[in-house]
Amino acid sequence: MFPYLVWLRETDSTQRRLKEGNYPCGTVFVADRQKEGKGRKGRRWESQEGGLYFSFVLCEEDFRDYAQLPLIVGFSVSEYLDSLGIRTAIKWPNDVYSRGRKISGVLVEKSSNKIVVGIGLNVNQDSFPKELENSAISMKLASGKEYDRKRVLTSLLDFLSKNLNDYREKGFTAFKERIEDKLLFKEEEVVILGEEPVVGILVGIDDNGHLLLQTSEGLKSIAAGDLSLRLY
Ligand code: ATP
Ligand code: BTN
Repeated sequence: MFPYLVWLRETDSTQRRLKEGNYPCGTVFVADRQKEGKGRKGRRWESQEGGLYFSFVLCEEDFRDYAQLPLIVGFSVSEYLDSLGIRTAIKWPNDVYSRGRKISGVLVEKSSNKIVVGIGLNVNQDSFPKELENSAISMKLASGKEYDRKRVLTSLLDFLSKNLNDYREKGFTAFKERIEDKLLFKEEEVVILGEEPVVGILVGIDDNGHLLLQTSEGLKSIAAGDLSLRLY
């Protein structure tokens, strides 16, 4: 699935490089550090040395329902980290958490006829800037071990290839239960911050990957968008 890979010492953002260039499907751009790493809604993604920052191109015709992709990609990261003994949970719709802190973020964007997927994974960082001190964690901080980032990338790409191919062939229902089992804040009271905040108990996801909340007005299904999930 990923036949072309370019590894840069430094760039502004691997996501921007792929969105602005004309690269074939399956191209991967990796950087040791990014000067302008971006999260959702243009928020900054801290991209200091030690982490893994990469983006890849998917062909739009292969992945029509792109709203479910952040969950499939986040699930792949989570499954990979679990395989190393680092226990993780998926924070709907696009983040991976370990020990209550963010270890990885996923960004899926459409740009003309292609989909660009970006993943930031904290690997060997020993510390984070003050503003992330209590909310971020790296693989090294979680396990006490140092990792070879080339190996981390190739193994993670294997998990991604397998899951993206399964998703293309079998659809989201093949993942629904496994993703549901890994959801952060399951059975807890949460609030979804968007135009209108919605408060309820997080009960799971539906066959479309929408979040299911038991609210005072009954069961509500919430489609992923630029929404934020928080404990209430
Ligand atoms: P939500 O997804 O619920 O809106 P969020 O704060 O996680 O909340 P995102 O857009 O998903 O928002 O991610 C961007 C945020 O992630 C940044 O505003 C910052 O708080 C945090 N962040 C930035 N860099 C890192 C990093 N390397 N590791 C962990 N967290 C980071
Ligand atoms: C988020 O949690 O909001 C998503 C963070 C995505 C960060 C990755 S790092 C590689 C790629 N390049 C970027 O500028 N962003 C993504």
